[in-house]
Amino acid sequence: MNTKINFAGIEMKNPVTVASGTFGYGREYSDFFDLGELGGIITKGTSLKPRSGNKPPRVCETASGMLNSIGLQNPGVEYFAQNDLPFLKKFDTAIIVNACGSSIDEYVDLCKILNTLDIDGVELNLSCPNVKAGCMAFGNTYDGVKQVTSAVRKVLDKPLIVKLTPNVTDIASIAKAVEDAGADGVSLINTLLGMKIDIDKQKPVLANNTGGLSGPAIKPVAVRMVYQVAQAVNIPILGMGGIVNGDDAIEFMLAGAKAISIGAGNFIDPYTSVNTVKGIESYMNRHKIEDINDIVGKVKMN
Ligand SMILES: Cc1cc2nc3c(=O)[nH]c(=O)nc-3n(C[C@H](O)[C@H](O)[C@H](O)COP(=O)(O)O)c2cc1C
Repeated sequence: MNTKINFAGIEMKNPVTVASGTFGYGREYSDFFDLGELGGIITKGTSLKPRSGNKPPRVCETASGMLNSIGLQNPGVEYFAQNDLPFLKKFDTAIIVNACGSSIDEYVDLCKILNTLDIDGVELNLSCPNVKAGCMAFGNTYDGVKQVTSAVRKVLDKPLIVKLTPNVTDIASIAKAVEDAGADGVSLINTLLGMKIDIDKQKPVLANNTGGLSGPAIKPVAVRMVYQVAQAVNIPILGMGGIVNGDDAIEFMLAGAKAISIGAGNFIDPYTSVNTVKGIESYMNRHKIEDINDIVGKVKMN
């Protein structure tokens, strides 16, 4: 049975990765399992300079999901290079850095540094709904996505994956902009903008008022968007949004994702990602599939 894939030039032993912001830089989860069992690790959104993020409360539970407004808290790329990358390099897994910035220049300067590091690829975050400048402000227009992606492409020789926001009317056209600007892959979906109100205080629960919705509640939206993007572009898709087991992962792959990411599922059970690898293998056994690549995009539409 073959579970190996090549995603946008990145070799992975299986299609399972962990989604940015839900796995830190891997340390906490390494107490539970060998991180080398994963196809890849996508780091917390990392910026040129350290960021302290938004005021708490920054997370809350919702029906079959959660809202977060972390606001890209991270120690900055220099700290990452000196402290977290050497730790991650101990494991036999692909390392993809989620890169975020507030301006095109900041994305470019950050990616110049990332280009010099021993990492496998960059996931460009043009989709965080929880910061005032950058990210989703670029990610929700065709021109914005194209400008940032083209500028970064000029300075980055490593595989470039661009992460899309679902908070748009036509995700397929945004994915096309990414492809036209020279990216090697696209990832989707980031969180859906939401709000929860405490009815006793008559105030939003999150200090930021709004936050990004993730978890099983968003899976049908994510599967639909992966399918639509798969019809629009030829670059590979990293699919995510509510995946908690192997069957969910297979659903995304049938819709057109070559690899998948597990986000909020890591908070429900720290073993969700490794159990998803086993779940994919068990589906392959059940359906006598020899190569996982054979099911990508194979949904039979009615
Ligand atoms: C607490 C939290 C922090 C996140 N931080 C980031 C981030 O730094 N960069 C990013 O691109 N996405 C971030 N995300 C979005 C996830 O990577 C993922 O796209 C989204 O949660 C959907 O997947 P899920 O339903 O499996 O969680 C974050 C999500 C959560 C729940």
